[in-house]
Amino acid sequence: MAFCIRSGALDKLKIRGGRRLEGEIRVSGAKNATLPILCAALLTERALTLSNVPRLMDVRTMSRLLAQMGVEVSDNSETLELRAANVGNPEAPYELVKTMRASVLVLGPLLARCGRARVSLPGGCAIGSRPVDQHLKGLQAMGATIEVEHGYMEARAQRLRGARIVMDMVTVTGTENLMLAATLAEGTTLIENAAREPEVVDLARCLVAMGAKIEGAGGDVIRIDGVRSLGGAEHRVMPDRIETGTYLAAAAATGGDIRLVGARPDLLDAVLEKLRETGAHVETGEDWIALRTNGALNAVSVRTAPYPAFPTDMQAQFMALNSIARGTALMTETIFENRFMHVQELKRLGAEIEVEGNTAVVKGVPHLDGATVMATDLRASASLVIAGLVAQGETLVDRIYHLDRGYETLEAKLGALGARIERVH
Ligand code: EPU
Repeated sequence: MAFCIRSGALDKLKIRGGRRLEGEIRVSGAKNATLPILCAALLTERALTLSNVPRLMDVRTMSRLLAQMGVEVSDNSETLELRAANVGNPEAPYELVKTMRASVLVLGPLLARCGRARVSLPGGCAIGSRPVDQHLKGLQAMGATIEVEHGYMEARAQRLRGARIVMDMVTVTGTENLMLAATLAEGTTLIENAAREPEVVDLARCLVAMGAKIEGAGGDVIRIDGVRSLGGAEHRVMPDRIETGTYLAAAAATGGDIRLVGARPDLLDAVLEKLRETGAHVETGEDWIALRTNGALNAVSVRTAPYPAFPTDMQAQFMALNSIARGTALMTETIFENRFMHVQELKRLGAEIEVEGNTAVVKGVPHLDGATVMATDLRASASLVIAGLVAQGETLVDRIYHLDRGYETLEAKLGALGARIERVH
């Protein structure tokens, strides 16, 4: 296993704003589909061969986590191959879980494959407290015993049993964890109030290719008929809809004209609708999206909610766009309790934003001014990059390791669109 992502802890992005983005770039594979799919490799001793895997820090962290459990991971540049012939050490240590909460996705597969798992409890993070009670509730309903000791979830089960699980709220990784576990359980599992995110569907497609019996992924009830064992498979990871939306928002904010290829416009309806509301002209084909703007943007109000509504992972980027739009936007965050960390930083660039409870009121200003700002989480950093692209003068975005978690070759892609952006130490 070796793919290299340059990310020094002290790296910053230097952006000279004022260029409109123009040109064509290719969308990468989806981070949030790749992470659960990597965990699916734990369910079989056969090889899982993945293509369109984005080379990102989170993908590398998950690969390292799997490797230390005994999974062989080989990167053949076009494909990533995983083989879990033996899983010797079914444990996810604190050091890795604390850097990436998605590590909790190994819990279900480890229990199903090994009958036991020891996974560090994720703590809070920059966007809220993010508990995992729904993951645990579901696994317990399937017969697992789970104790929390010394900060670790110690889970055991002989063979998991199918169960009917009604989720208290829509949770993406919760649904994925239970779906992964249920593939090898005895009998039928029903996950009700399941997450309908396209990444859940991509995971289901991969699992079905491995021999799992799953129906209903993409709807709010998923039925999984457990099988004795799963085999190997080849799977192409879906395009990243949030990366796609981020470049579109950046293009709109800069008055640009871009075309994204290798995209899935059918998964972005809510985002494309909002971009059209700004006044941008958006055209789509089967696997491409083109966006062009003439003149000023209108502010657009958004309310985040589970798919197919407007994604929380696009809220920060639209806040950057609204900061320089004509009018006032109300932006309501209903998924995470604390996902407005970018507000203070955008204000340092001259944005006018007030937060009341879970709503930010964004009053568009004629222009932003470059400054040094600090990234606090992945999507917040993306919003600061967009703000930097439109700001007058130079913006330095600090702590960009957050960006490297989720945007493949960001500077190269933005550079190809004409942005003046470079990584500095
Ligand atoms: N929740 C609970 N209990 C649980 C699980 C979730 O209370 O057991 C709550 C959360 O605290 C939150 C809400 O349910 O308020 C929804 O959280 P969800 O579980 O859906 O989030 P997640 O699965 O941890 C994934 C993405 C996030 C994305 C959210 C929402 C991955 C690896 N992560 O997180 O992506 O924001 O779904 O769509 O798929 C990102 O890529 O930047 C990112 C944060």
